[in-house]
Amino acid sequence: MCGIVGIVGHTPVAPLIVDALKRLEYRGYDSAGVATIEHGALARRRAEGKLVNLEKRLAEEPLGGLIGIGHTRWATHGVPNETNAHPHFADDVAIVHNGIIENFAELRDELSSVGFVFTSQTDTEVVAHLIARELRGGASPQEAAYRSLQRLRGAFALAIMFRGDEDLIVGARNGPPLAVGHGEGEMYLGSDAIALAPFTDSITYLEDGDWVVVRREGMQIFDMDAKPVSRMRQQSVGTSFLVDKGNHRHFMEKEIHEQPEVISHTLANYLDFAAGRVGGFDLPFDFAAIERLAISACGTAYLAGLVGKYWLERYARLPVDIDIASEFRYREMPLPKASAALFISQSGETADTLASLRYCRGEGVPISAIVNVRESTIARESDGVFPTLAGPEIGVASTKAFTCQLSVLAALALKAAKARGVLSAEREQELVRQLSEAPRYAAQALKLSERIETVARELSHVRHVLYLGRDTSYPLALEGALKLKEISYIHAEGYAAGELKHGPIALIDEQMPVIVIAPHDRIFEKTVSNMQEVAARGGRIILITDRQGAEKATVKTLETIVMPDVPEFVAPIVYALPVQMLAYHTAVIMGTDVDQPRNLAKSVTVE
Ligand code: F6R
Repeated sequence: MCGIVGIVGHTPVAPLIVDALKRLEYRGYDSAGVATIEHGALARRRAEGKLVNLEKRLAEEPLGGLIGIGHTRWATHGVPNETNAHPHFADDVAIVHNGIIENFAELRDELSSVGFVFTSQTDTEVVAHLIARELRGGASPQEAAYRSLQRLRGAFALAIMFRGDEDLIVGARNGPPLAVGHGEGEMYLGSDAIALAPFTDSITYLEDGDWVVVRREGMQIFDMDAKPVSRMRQQSVGTSFLVDKGNHRHFMEKEIHEQPEVISHTLANYLDFAAGRVGGFDLPFDFAAIERLAISACGTAYLAGLVGKYWLERYARLPVDIDIASEFRYREMPLPKASAALFISQSGETADTLASLRYCRGEGVPISAIVNVRESTIARESDGVFPTLAGPEIGVASTKAFTCQLSVLAALALKAAKARGVLSAEREQELVRQLSEAPRYAAQALKLSERIETVARELSHVRHVLYLGRDTSYPLALEGALKLKEISYIHAEGYAAGELKHGPIALIDEQMPVIVIAPHDRIFEKTVSNMQEVAARGGRIILITDRQGAEKATVKTLETIVMPDVPEFVAPIVYALPVQMLAYHTAVIMGTDVDQPRNLAKSVTVE
């Protein structure tokens, strides 16, 4: 999603802003821009596409000025071109915006009818004109911003700069995150601590409804009634992180390879390996006292939740309702008293997941969240937080966050099973031991990278792919299809293997690769039958299985990827890796933008 940076500094800010924007590239964007006040006038450079294009513009026509705002835009209203790129100007106002102004059409009509002329198709420009109208009416910049904010509906984060006051940026937050960075005689605004990491690790996060006046010597936060409010200043953990691919070609590759380590960190946070016990959950409810758990999330995080449903129901005998957050938030699901809600999000800022959380808050059920960004809104609004220790995930396609979410869910299933009296001490010890081996199995799976690259060559020539799996391999089939389509742009669909004959089998012909995820488990034979149905119709099977599965699959396959033998409980964590590598290598062979695939954003803060 869009990224925002603002600096009230004492050296030329344009290059600093571009550097900070680079750290926000991972969020996904399709144009970028920076504005400063140079020799008393608003000046800007904007460019369609990646930041290198903006850097080229700045090299041709440098931008001076000690105060500035910058932006990476992920288009919502209006195509991604230079005209729609931020910052937007109106009279003496420059503005950058993340989110959606829902009543922009109504505001634009109102402003157009009194002579304001719009130069872009964006919803953002209405905010600039609203503020400009207040300034024309004699309001101070601060008043003009505040009054205009009261007219806006929707989810937004804003940074606003005013010609005539070179010591002022006004920021506002209602939805997407915005953080103030504290420096020495210099202050910053940014979408997250990662953007501000080169400047400061001292951060204050705005809360929803807050707006802030930022000057070189400090800042003041106000609420929507314009009353000063105080928000905690904290040391950011983002500073220790460098945006660095190491020896890897892409962040995604690096993040895939980090998995043995981050899975082990995450598991160690919830399990006592030495004692063979589960522990360490800051639970806001008692698993023994609830009858249902509602899980809600988006995309890959939702698919982690789907695996979690299988685990919680099987091992803890706890019924789980799982929903895609964008559906859950509006479907007015009744939540029984004896229930709890769990949200899963890497970024902790996904608008639909956050809205679902707030719905559950309204229903009065205890709320917990699995998040990777601990300072995120979802983490802050939850009663209990179960962090994934994946570290910053930069590749737009989620990899290590997914396996860390699975690791937390596996430990949580054991915690629930224990609390509900359905897990003996011996079984607990056995399952904890199995989980403790997941990082080692993941490291073994990584060794299959070259083999998988060979298989990816086959995929790089096709237009459509099917993924099949049963039980916990079914969510992995969905994840495989999602990963492949998002980074290689090949059309892919995942199905429960048993569902094939109810429709999708019509798609099978000699051209169709069918990727079957099937460890040798208690339903392996059933999946073999489904593979036979595919083979009988000429489908080209790529089987991901283990040694036993490879021996017992009585079907001719195009390729078989033989995974290490892993216990059934940890299989989803380990089998996620070949699925990710297959998508990764296919995308690399096809030459797509692996880390920032087209049209996608890392942190989806709009509906
Ligand atoms: C896919 C992917 C997305 C995210 C989804 C939720 O690779 O990354 O599907 O999983 O946008 O994002 P978070 O987890 O930040 O809520």
